[in-house]
Amino acid sequence: MRPASLPTSRTVPFRTRVAKASARPPVVRLARKDFLSVLDLDPESLEACLRLAAHLKRERRMTRRAASTQALAGQHVALLFEKPSLRTRSTFEIAVRELGGDVVCPGPDVAFGGREVAADVARNLERWVAALVLRTFAHQRLVEFAVAAPRLHVVNALTDDEHPCQALADLLTLREHLGDLRGRTVAFVGDGNNVATSLAHAAVMLGAHVHIASPEGYELPDHVLAEAARTARFGAGVRRFRDPRVAVHGAAAVYTDTWTSMGQEAETDVRVRVFAPYQVNATLMAQADPEALFMHCLPAHRGEEVTDEVMDGPSSVIFDQAENRLHVQKALLLMLLSQ
Ligand code: CP
Ligand code: NVA
Repeated sequence: MRPASLPTSRTVPFRTRVAKASARPPVVRLARKDFLSVLDLDPESLEACLRLAAHLKRERRMTRRAASTQALAGQHVALLFEKPSLRTRSTFEIAVRELGGDVVCPGPDVAFGGREVAADVARNLERWVAALVLRTFAHQRLVEFAVAAPRLHVVNALTDDEHPCQALADLLTLREHLGDLRGRTVAFVGDGNNVATSLAHAAVMLGAHVHIASPEGYELPDHVLAEAARTARFGAGVRRFRDPRVAVHGAAAVYTDTWTSMGQEAETDVRVRVFAPYQVNATLMAQADPEALFMHCLPAHRGEEVTDEVMDGPSSVIFDQAENRLHVQKALLLMLLSQ
């Protein structure tokens, strides 16, 4: 129990809270114009992003009168989403506004409906906004936007291939619960998809071993193994498994995602059959470390890739991941846009 004499956050004088909140770590500018992939970061800038995000999270809890609340004053960010989104879209809107900027949200019909080519959409946006947060299908489309507009900072809000903003939130969540990730194992069970790819890219930079268990034909692509091998630190690496029980053995965290990603709906029936042995349930979690975390990027399909028991159980950190989307994206925007 807390001794009565120790101050709680409610008893700390307001002036003290403001003073602590303003001691922000330096904002390290990203070397790249865009954030299309975790691979646009080096391990040092990934560390800097997580440190800044952790600070912004504390600052938000303590006071709204913080140093960062005017950082994007006078700047606009465009949010352009060709696929549905709850978390990414909401957290980017809140992030920009809490940093003192404003958002514009052109509908997908104006950018992807054939009215004009993607490059011309990008060149228009570049004249009005500082950054474009883009969710689309083909990764190449994202690259087209980034290449066409040399002054527009383009952020990947998910493509068929990668989901790097999710990986930043996942790493912050892992750090919060596990501390140093060097030598720890993060097991991803399911489709070797966009979320698995970005998780693998990021986790090995901080020294975590990544195990990915997938059925035949749905493995993490070969190029991701090669990329992770180039960026891995502290002896970390990515290994692919067929048997989920072997992959999660002793793992510090077990992660899963939907079996059918956006755009693959026509394959749902086949995927539900193929992935059934890859459900994360209490039996599978029992193979992991007894303290293992359960992670999911959401949205989840309860009763398919994960049971209610695991989703709602004490090891689940899924809503920490969702909350952390806000904090890491604020850090990312500061690293891309602040003067
Ligand atoms: N995890 C995630 O990206 O969620 P949304 O699709 O709701 O943005
Ligand atoms: N793999 C999922 C992630 C959703 C956040 C999809 O692409 O639909």
